[in-house]
Amino acid sequence: MASKGAKRTMVALALGAAAMLSAVGLRAASGPDWVTDAAGPAPFAQPIASDDPAVLDQRMLGRSFFTVPWVAAPAATTARDGLGPLFNANSCASCHVDNGSAPVIDADGAPLRPLLFKLAQPDAHADRMGQDAPESPGHARVLDPIYGGQIAINAAGGARPEARPQVHAQAVPFHYPDGAAVTLTRLTPVLADLAHGPLAPDTVVFLRQPPALAGLGLVAAVPDAALVAWEDPDDADGDGISGRANRMPDGALGRYGWKAAEPTLVAQIANAAAVDMGLTNRRYPQELCPPAQIACQKAPRGRPSPLGDLDLPDPRLDAIAAYLSGFKAPQPAALAAQAAHGESLFSTLGCAACHRPVLRTEDGRTLRPLSDFLLHDMGDGLADGVREHLAGPSEFRTAPLWGLGARLRAGHRFLHDGRARSPEEAILWHGGEAGPARDAFVSLTAADRAALLSYLEQL
Ligand code: HEC
Ligand code: HEC
Repeated sequence: MASKGAKRTMVALALGAAAMLSAVGLRAASGPDWVTDAAGPAPFAQPIASDDPAVLDQRMLGRSFFTVPWVAAPAATTARDGLGPLFNANSCASCHVDNGSAPVIDADGAPLRPLLFKLAQPDAHADRMGQDAPESPGHARVLDPIYGGQIAINAAGGARPEARPQVHAQAVPFHYPDGAAVTLTRLTPVLADLAHGPLAPDTVVFLRQPPALAGLGLVAAVPDAALVAWEDPDDADGDGISGRANRMPDGALGRYGWKAAEPTLVAQIANAAAVDMGLTNRRYPQELCPPAQIACQKAPRGRPSPLGDLDLPDPRLDAIAAYLSGFKAPQPAALAAQAAHGESLFSTLGCAACHRPVLRTEDGRTLRPLSDFLLHDMGDGLADGVREHLAGPSEFRTAPLWGLGARLRAGHRFLHDGRARSPEEAILWHGGEAGPARDAFVSLTAADRAALLSYLEQL
């Protein structure tokens, strides 16, 4: 296996060449047809052209199931009937605005619908793994016995919303060596008005915000081998960065979600449909009603459609996957000199050791997700106390940075729990394997810090 050091030198060379090109204004303004200008409108929602009518039909169908609100059973419609009994939102689009992320905290500090309050129990209770949906292959962790894996803030058919979520924000002051100051925020989830009594004593509540749905089909087309080649679980090259793939119980490599706990787009969508919206589907054939929640158990079910009795029958699940696979990846068209300098700093600081600049799909398309899609230990400051498959409490998938600028312009927040209001705050929270890169950022001059941030804003 080629050493990661050698790979990183190659990356630095590639980045250097790109920086030179952009410095002299030669970087192509319009890239290949799977790339869209990151500075353009709705950069996560630009479809890759196709002249295949079957593909276009599938995408149109998928789009409607992604965007048009579902309704609770029983309803006059059978196409979008089956929301709940427990759910958080009635459409995918309410948490993925223009296929991107979403605001998660309002001006008064209250959590918004797209911020999910999830639950987990220590591995010691592994005998209860997925106990509320025995057929389900989808549970990555042990769930609370009464509330399951996620707090539902909405309910239908006589079931009750499970709690009223709140966040406590704690200010964490930070000073650069040059005296500049930033106030970071630590968020702690709090659940008021729990509908069925307290959580189990050792249940952990943790926060997850929606990631932008960027380049998902392209990510799916990167061969496992290309990701595995970048793994260095024992840090054989001694650079302090390990990185390992998450793996499902069947050995499949995890790619999606903050801890890469879902192997495929279909699996991720099936999980979102069941857990966030209460839509049964082939991976979650039963409503996720914990046994103790009798009203949820008894709530009316969606009416069978000609496609079967699942709320989200296979052809519709597959159509959503086809829809989300068909979008271009955001990429900056041209970098001004300051941002080009920032791009080279990104590599020299060690950011690119995890935020991998270039990946290639099976069919040779080049992507610049700025992620290796591997898990890294990010230290105690970011740890959420939760294990998902192989990902430990402080391990997260390198967050892809493509489209970061659009998320910033939309006023959305950063990191898995949405604690960071800016990319700068996100960097300052980096610890563990990323500690040295963070320290290198902190010791930059103010002008170099600004250059790095200017680069991130243009992604
Ligand atoms: C209530 C808010 C909410 C709703 C509704 C929702 N999502 Fe999400 N979505 C999230 C959150 C939060 C995550 C991150 C989950 C995690 O990593 O634990 C996520 C993650 C994802 C991902 C993984 C992206 C990546 O880059 O890894 C995909 C794909 C996705 N959602 C698609 C959907 C689809 C399709 C629907 C509708 C069936 C949907 N979501 C409904 C909040 C939501
Ligand atoms: C050891 C691997 C590693 C290194 C090195 C690293 N990062 Fe990260 N980065 C991550 C992971 C993992 C996350 C997600 C952490 C989380 O959400 O808790 C992340 C998240 C981010 C985010 C927030 C993205 C989002 O979607 O919310 C930004 C911005 C970022 N990194 C920039 C940088 C910069 C700039 C550097 C170099 C100074 C850097 N990172 C170095 C692994 C790394």
